[in-house]
Amino acid sequence: MTATDNIAPKLLCACSIDCVLASGFAYSDLDQGAFANYRIINHAFAYRIPDPIPSIHAGPLMCAGASVFEALDAANVRPGNRVGVVGVGGLGHVGILFARAMGCPVTALNRTTKRMGDAFALGADTYFSLEDLNTPHYPPTDTRSNSAPGHGNAGIDVLLITTNVVPSLDSLLPLLARRATSVLMTIQTEALSVPYMPFVLPGHKLIASTEASVTNHYRMLEFVAQKVVTTGVVNILPWVEQFEMSVDGLAKAFERLEEGEMRFRGVLVMPESGI
Ligand SMILES: NC(=O)c1ccc[n+]([C@@H]2O[C@H](COP(=O)([O-])OP(=O)(O)OC[C@H]3O[C@@H](n4cnc5c(N)ncnc54)[C@H](OP(=O)(O)O)[C@@H]3O)[C@@H](O)[C@H]2O)c1
Repeated sequence: MTATDNIAPKLLCACSIDCVLASGFAYSDLDQGAFANYRIINHAFAYRIPDPIPSIHAGPLMCAGASVFEALDAANVRPGNRVGVVGVGGLGHVGILFARAMGCPVTALNRTTKRMGDAFALGADTYFSLEDLNTPHYPPTDTRSNSAPGHGNAGIDVLLITTNVVPSLDSLLPLLARRATSVLMTIQTEALSVPYMPFVLPGHKLIASTEASVTNHYRMLEFVAQKVVTTGVVNILPWVEQFEMSVDGLAKAFERLEEGEMRFRGVLVMPESGI
């Protein structure tokens, strides 16, 4: 029996990767029960969190985790593919953790070098600041030279774009291997500009990914639980900061968020629940 066998027949389409009836949380199910103690939902969309996954990590996994797993699946990532993750934030840090756990070398890219230490701790082996894509950085113990030329050096096969704004593709395309797949995850209203020949000549693909399927929610939970059991919690569970679910706790969480200092997801915990 698979994890999805117990889903009501009339909702079987919800399990499909290509379900035509799927719609995102911004367009359906608008009463999300936030800050309530309990919520009644259709059982087909309630997931049992595997025991090895602590509740405090399950929240971020059910959003950032499922979204990133879906994107890696959409790009058909295989062990050994070099995965690039643009943006070391809530989504991006899970992208580094998951790709690494899938057996992929990871190049992380962020606006500045501020997140470089975090990216290496998460498992990236190469780091670029978007301010200087000619200079790759490597972990301190790495024997590669930090002054090695960047372009063509990384040869990224799959590029997850997880920033709040899509950076210039002009500057990112030279980092890609031939026939690379770039996955747009950013939600923005601005139009996208794609340089034509640098995209077409190497045979690149550009896809988008949002709204993880039910199947991939289950697959993600199984993947993470298995990694926790076999390798431990480090380098698979999202990094979280914990706040009390109270007016004071919310104020502190928003302060961290607005300062851009949250690493990398804030989790509100009911005072009496002691997650
Ligand atoms: N496709 C999906 O399924 C899905 C699911 C959830 C969220 N999203 C979208 O994914 C994006 C990231 O979400 P998140 O929760 O990871 O956000 P987040 O935790 O705030 O991280 C944002 C990242 O974007 C970078 N960034 C912010 N402004 C930028 C700019 N102007 N240029 C380049 N980089 C910039 C930040 O860099 P710094 O460290 O320098 O601040 C950080 O690395 C959002 O657009 C969100 O709506 C998509």
